[in-house]
Amino acid sequence: MLADIVKTRETIAGLFRQRFGSDPLLVRSPGRVNLIGEHTDYNEGFVLPAAVDKAIVLAAAPRNDRRFRFVAADLHQDDEGSFEILAPSPLGWPDYLLGIVDQLEKTGRKVPGVDLVFGGTIPIGAGMSSSAAVEAGFLFLLNAMFDLGIPLLDMAKMAQRAENEFIGVRCGIMDQFANLFGTEGHVLRLDCRSLQYEAVPFRRADVSIVLCDTMVRHELASSEYNKRRRQCEEGVEALRRRHPAVKSLRDATPEMLADVRDLLDPVVERRCRYVVEENGRVLEGCADLRKGDLEAFGGRMILSHEGLRDLYEVSCRELDTLVEAALKLDGVFGARMMGGGFGGCTINLVREDCVEDFAREIPEVYRDAIGREMNLHLCRITGGTSLIQPK
Ligand code: GLA
Repeated sequence: MLADIVKTRETIAGLFRQRFGSDPLLVRSPGRVNLIGEHTDYNEGFVLPAAVDKAIVLAAAPRNDRRFRFVAADLHQDDEGSFEILAPSPLGWPDYLLGIVDQLEKTGRKVPGVDLVFGGTIPIGAGMSSSAAVEAGFLFLLNAMFDLGIPLLDMAKMAQRAENEFIGVRCGIMDQFANLFGTEGHVLRLDCRSLQYEAVPFRRADVSIVLCDTMVRHELASSEYNKRRRQCEEGVEALRRRHPAVKSLRDATPEMLADVRDLLDPVVERRCRYVVEENGRVLEGCADLRKGDLEAFGGRMILSHEGLRDLYEVSCRELDTLVEAALKLDGVFGARMMGGGFGGCTINLVREDCVEDFAREIPEVYRDAIGREMNLHLCRITGGTSLIQPK
């Protein structure tokens, strides 16, 4: 795993020197997992993410003008232009970088142009927040390069806004926060209202975090994501008519929801019920982890998946197949879909001595049921985005 990031660092730094002929500043920016607490962040609720050892490296140097040259090493694509005209690129990926420059401009910071190469090991669109890694990693890099003095929490908020405003996905703050605040060996219990967090130890040599990537990326993902947000907002509006103190679903209880059932569209009611229950599961799950009770924690992961599948309706056949298959195997504490949904990964907590069997059997079941290949990723929890040395 360590070898992975060293290899990436060397490759990206080497490419930079070859393309631009100077020594770059280097940043490592990780992907994330989320143990539990899905679609709760934009409802001001709780999440339990961690930064992991799938990461990208960004290498950059400042220019004397305001032009940019970006190289996406893994995609073998280049883009160039000027920070004077921040227009979305037909290539798509430059927008995650330009959105950051846009945020800097909106907060009164005009930065010089840069040459940049980036790439790494976070699978794209797999629900491991490759986009947040580009956004937050680039902002972190610019902040260091131009001595902007932006506090970490402000960087998380700006990176989130870049995604909201420049990309048009109304995501919450979980991914950008986990990327920047990640702590080796710990999951972050983040309160998405106060943005206070606690690092909860997760150092179990006997348990592995295994991701199963369906390798499907459904087109629906971002439009359905925004639709879920609207449905949650609709739920809050109805709740407020009888319970004016409710500011977001974070404040709602199952009793309140039952009380306004007659005001709610049945679909909206299901969405809200899921969020209220999931918030409870995160808090209870943290208590399980502190006690070292992985059986209880795993049970909550399973309930989380059922809620995402039946009430929030963001799962898909491929994800359900992987969760069902995992739960039939020995040594699996819990399994559920992870991230926004409609494809991407499942997250599984697997007893160390059962990982080998897991890795052999799950891809077979998937091939038989779905007729295609999947990918497996073993993840170790690492620190958040940081500057790294060239050698
Ligand atoms: C995506 C978003 C996050 C969060 C998750 C679902 O990863 O970027 O803000 O809402 O989906 O939990």
